[in-house]
Amino acid sequence: MANTVLVGLQWGDEGKGKIIDVLTERADVVVRFQGGNNAGHTVKVGEQQFVLHLVPSGILRERSLCIIGNGVVVDPLALDQEIAELEGKGIDVRSRLHLSSRAQLVFCYHRQMDGLFERKLGENKIGTTKRGIGPAYADKVNRVGIRAAALLHPARFEARFRAQAGFYNRLLSEGGEAPLDVDAEWGRLAAAADRLAPLVKDTVLMVNQASRAGREILFEGAQGTWLDVDYGTYPFVTSSNTTAGAACTGGGLAPSRIERVIGVAKAYTTRVGSGPFPTELTDDTGDELRRVGSEFGATTGRPRRCGWFDAVATRYAAMLNGADEMAVTKLDVLDDVRTLRICTAYSIDGVVTHEMPADIEDITRAVPVYEEMPGWRQPTSGVRCRRDLPAAALRYLERLAELAQCRISLLSIGPKREQTFTF
Ligand code: IMP
Repeated sequence: MANTVLVGLQWGDEGKGKIIDVLTERADVVVRFQGGNNAGHTVKVGEQQFVLHLVPSGILRERSLCIIGNGVVVDPLALDQEIAELEGKGIDVRSRLHLSSRAQLVFCYHRQMDGLFERKLGENKIGTTKRGIGPAYADKVNRVGIRAAALLHPARFEARFRAQAGFYNRLLSEGGEAPLDVDAEWGRLAAAADRLAPLVKDTVLMVNQASRAGREILFEGAQGTWLDVDYGTYPFVTSSNTTAGAACTGGGLAPSRIERVIGVAKAYTTRVGSGPFPTELTDDTGDELRRVGSEFGATTGRPRRCGWFDAVATRYAAMLNGADEMAVTKLDVLDDVRTLRICTAYSIDGVVTHEMPADIEDITRAVPVYEEMPGWRQPTSGVRCRRDLPAAALRYLERLAELAQCRISLLSIGPKREQTFTF
């Protein structure tokens, strides 16, 4: 396996955790490069289910070194708790997990500001995960954030935290919010910092040394292309770059060292939170996809909005990420659908386009142009190779690849490790 970036081609929740888990069988190093604990990667190993938020999925394979890169925003309390939970399930985390000294930290005031902004937006709210992700990235670009390096120096850390918390307390009280109990919060942080400090490293050096030594690195994307702060359905996006380029800026390896990009797409589409979703199904079919696919957010438990496969969005995403190959997940969820629909274009005020519009008003008004294909109406979850797929399922997948202009290299037909195979 070459140095590989894995990203979502839709609105997140494409099943990246499961694909990463399969790929990490051969990866020496696994790097998270953006986002924070807004992400929830669900991985099933045997009968045990793990939901990872900040720790790279490689932690579930004993041989992988795991890195939380500089592009990630890290809530120290959440990371500390996640590590404790994994250790409680018998996973050795501390000898294999490293946290970039340049990663930005997320604090209670970020979470509170996230809630405040959302309330202020009223019915135009983004529908964030309320994990403080946007406010933490805002502090980063405002050049007032606190980086993980501070965890190594308790006195400096405390001074910076108290200064920022004081500033936010004034803002919060102006916004009619209850002030933070800074002393109590510092007590929690100091304890977590003590436990996390040994993990803090210059991970840029680690990643480059590993690359020079010929070790294989997997960059694990979170969220999906259409939640990217530059390319997504702005402003209904997350606050980081979720696309492949961010693996370099957020992981510390140069573009010249990246050899492969894999896009992950569900065989249909889902979205959590607000914002336009052209192929959304608000009828019984949508409810049925949600029920069969257990489409509930891994982080917040919110029901996911469900809809047909959107080839316009997926093709654009594959192009943007430079993904020449695609892992398709959850095909089995479509097993009982009589007639499938695929969106091949959008009609916006009567004008047909095959490209993703930039303006939110246009995306909101986009009416999908569909083509239909017959379903296969038989179970696929026991299939372990391409030739055993029902003919209609194979035709559906071939059409997705053709429309997305991206070959399918992996197919997943269930949550277990053995239910993902080379296509
Ligand atoms: P935030 O990242 O919490 O600021 O949320 C911004 C938007 O991204 C909201 O619509 C969230 O539902 C969505 N979002 C954030 N993380 C994920 C994820 O891991 N999967 C799917 N949607 C996400």
